[in-house]
Formats: sequence, structure tokens, C-alpha cells
Amino acid sequence: MAEKWTPDSWRSKPIMQVPDYPDTEALADVEKRLSTYPPLVFAGEARALKRQLADVAAGRGFLLQGGDCAESFAEHHPDHIRDFFRVFLQMAVVLTYAASQPVVKVGRIAGQFAKPRSAPTEKQGDVELPSYRGDIVNDIAFTPEGRAPDPARLSMAYRQSAATLNLLRAFAQGGFANLDQVHRWMLGFVKDSPQAHRYQELADRISESLAFMRACGVSPDSVPQLRSTDFFTSHEALLLGYEQALTRVDSTSGDWYATSGHMLWIGDRTRQPDHAHVEFFRGIKNPIGLKCGPSLSPDGLLQLIDILNPDNEPGRLTLIARFGADKVFDHLPQLIRAVQREGKVVVWSCDPMHGNTITAGGYKTRPFDRILKEVEAFFAVHRAEGTHAGGIHVEMTGRNVTECTGGAHALTADQLGDRYHTHCDPRLNADQALELAFLLAENLKKERLGRDHEKIAANG
Ligand code: TRP
Ligand code: MN
Repeated sequence: MAEKWTPDSWRSKPIMQVPDYPDTEALADVEKRLSTYPPLVFAGEARALKRQLADVAAGRGFLLQGGDCAESFAEHHPDHIRDFFRVFLQMAVVLTYAASQPVVKVGRIAGQFAKPRSAPTEKQGDVELPSYRGDIVNDIAFTPEGRAPDPARLSMAYRQSAATLNLLRAFAQGGFANLDQVHRWMLGFVKDSPQAHRYQELADRISESLAFMRACGVSPDSVPQLRSTDFFTSHEALLLGYEQALTRVDSTSGDWYATSGHMLWIGDRTRQPDHAHVEFFRGIKNPIGLKCGPSLSPDGLLQLIDILNPDNEPGRLTLIARFGADKVFDHLPQLIRAVQREGKVVVWSCDPMHGNTITAGGYKTRPFDRILKEVEAFFAVHRAEGTHAGGIHVEMTGRNVTECTGGAHALTADQLGDRYHTHCDPRLNADQALELAFLLAENLKKERLGRDHEKIAANG
């Protein structure tokens, strides 16, 4: 029998990746105030996302999840949000078209602030200071004041998330995502790339279909699904004091929901079954993600599934595989087989970013060909196992950054310094994100045609 869960029951468990706040009283004050603020999302929205993910788990849809590695206070600008959303919609259109299936759209945004670090401190020369843990904790500036964890940052993160979410809701529902705008989502600097031409062609076909449907009496004016989209938010729920303050009882169901975002995930470094993060996650009813890295064994995974989704509820759990391009075949098949053998219902998603980080030219980077290779391997394994490759999880931006090497413009290590803006990990730029979407589209098409062949064979 599981022990009783409360929003603060995680506090009595061992915990990793906690900042060392100099003033714990000030922290408690801020958390208390946060717990009186309005929720950022509603339980009903989280349930809607869970239903959409249940369809993905059943093979009827694809999860597109992406955004910054870490959001920052300094770069909170409407243009960044708009440019991200634009590329994200382009990717979604490409995938929807190829798969002939709904694409579930989840941003790593409006709450993605806290970062796990490999070491608690950072040394520059003779100076040793606390590591930067994301803008919700401390400042990236390497000074004693900057690196001291500051509780006031929790409410700043909350307010920034609210503002970002407000704009995203407006974009998703207010006309920006209207399929009539499909040509307009092209970003200026992507216009002369091979991706742009492929996208333009696709957009032409969609416009033509819409014109035909309009002549038949069906148009975005008459059908809300054609002029708006469901967009959800997600982040790694690392800073549990913040998450607890925003965890509320849903009055319609009596259940607890985290209201800091629709979907939360557990990082690869904080998934110990008897530790605080897993304890917190088991009690909230949101759809959740679990990052699965090379150190996760099939038995370890099954143990976590039993704790996090004891009722095997479809849509509750998304497993986000992040092994590194060369390790997918060594790890993924055995995890899939364990899950299949035990009849567990999950969404399988692929994070091709975090296992492929290297250092080149003094920068942390990710070779784009390794990212594509991990994606190809992920799909190949699912084809071999007869399971559904259900989603993708990427770090990306709508800005023209130079953070990942390779891609159609063959970005080299020497060029990384040109526009390297990330506060944490290297992200795909808009061009690379679109190129990835087309690769995904080819794989999804293969899966779809495979299904059609099976159907024909069964009926014939
Ligand atoms: N509502 C549908 C969906 O979200 C169709 C749609 C409208 C759409 N705007 C979109 C799809 C933008 C992708 C991108 O799937
Ligand atoms: Mn990252």
C-alpha cells in the first residue's frame, strides 16, 4: 500500500539538484505568497492534453514537444515567442500532413526555467561559485551576487510564465494559427534554404485544399478547427518548492493538479524511485514525462511506471528516450520489450538532443547529423518492434542562432561564435528545426504506408 501523498510529502525524501538558498525564511515567504496566486493552467486543460496523448499512445497521433533549453528573464521578448511559435506551427503542419494524423502540440515554454547541473559549483581561475541553475534560481553572471540563489526569482518566473502563456493562448486561438496563414509562417532568414522550398510546396497544396473546401462551403470562418489550434505548455518540474506552491485541488474532480504547466517531466538525473521528485510526481494528475537515459534498466523503468502510473491510465505517461545517436540500439529495444511484455500503455517520444552534446571550438554544441541519426534509430527500433514512434522532444528556437553544427547551411564549429545565445544547451535554429520536421515526416509517412499495407493485406 502506497504511503499517503500530500503536495509537500516530497520534503521528507532525499533530493538531488536543490539550490542552497542563503535565506530560507525569505524562500518560505515567497512560496507562501505564490500559493495564493492564480493557477497558470486549468485542470480541465491538463485532462484534455491527457486525452490527446492517450490517442498518441494508441497509435493515433504524434507528439511534438519543443522549445528553449532554458527560458531567460533577459530574453523575454514578444518577437522571440512569436518566432518560436511560428516555426513550431510550421513543424506541426509538416507532420500533420505527412502522418495524416493529429499532432499534439506541447511547448517547452512558459515555465522552463530550472536547470539540473552536473556539478554544484563552477570554477573560473581561482574563483569557485555556485553553478548557474536557471533564471528561476540565480543569475548566469559569474559574480558572488549573481550566483547566490534568490527567492524573488520564483515570482519573476511565475509572472513571466503568465505573460508568455497569455500571448501563446492569443496566438493559438486568436487567428495567428489559422491555416489560411500557412504561407505567412515562413521566417525571413529561412526563405532561401532548401527547407523553404519544400515548405512552400506543402503550403501551396494546403492552400489549394482549403480553396476547394471553401468552394464546398467549409472554411476557417465556419470551422473553428481550421482557424485555431490547441497549444499546451510543459517544463521540467525540478524546483519542487515552486511546483508545490502551484499545486492545487481541482474543484470538479477533487484531484491534485500542478498548475504551473499542462505537462511536467522528470529529468534523467532526478528519477530515483525513492527520492523527492518521483514522490511529488506520483500525486499530481497531470500528464507527465519521464526522461529515459542509458542508465535506466528495464526493471528500473517498470518500477517507475508502477509508482507513476499504477492504474496504467492511457496518456498519463510519456517516456522520453535520450540515449545518444550510437546508443539507441543498445538501450531502447529492451525498454520497449519490457513495457510491451507488462502491457503498459505509454507514449514513446525521442529526445535526440541531450545524448548528443559535445564541445567544439570552446562551445557546447550538437552536431545536427547526430541528432538526425538518433531520430532515424528511434524510428527504426519502433518499426522493428512493431510499436508506435509517438513523439519528438527538441530544444529549438525561432531565432537565427548558431548553436548546433551542420544542417543545410553546413554550420561549422568556427561559426558557433557568430550568434551563440543560449543560456544553457545548444538549440536547433528555425532552419534546422524545419529540416528535422521533414525527416520526421518521411518516417511518419513510412509508418502510415506500412499500416495501410497491413490493412490491405488483412482485407484481401
Ligand atoms: N486545429 C487543427 C490542429 O491543430 C488544424 C490546424 C489549425 C493546424 N491551425 C494549425 C495544424 C496550425 C497545424 C498548425 O491540428
Ligand atoms: Mn537542455
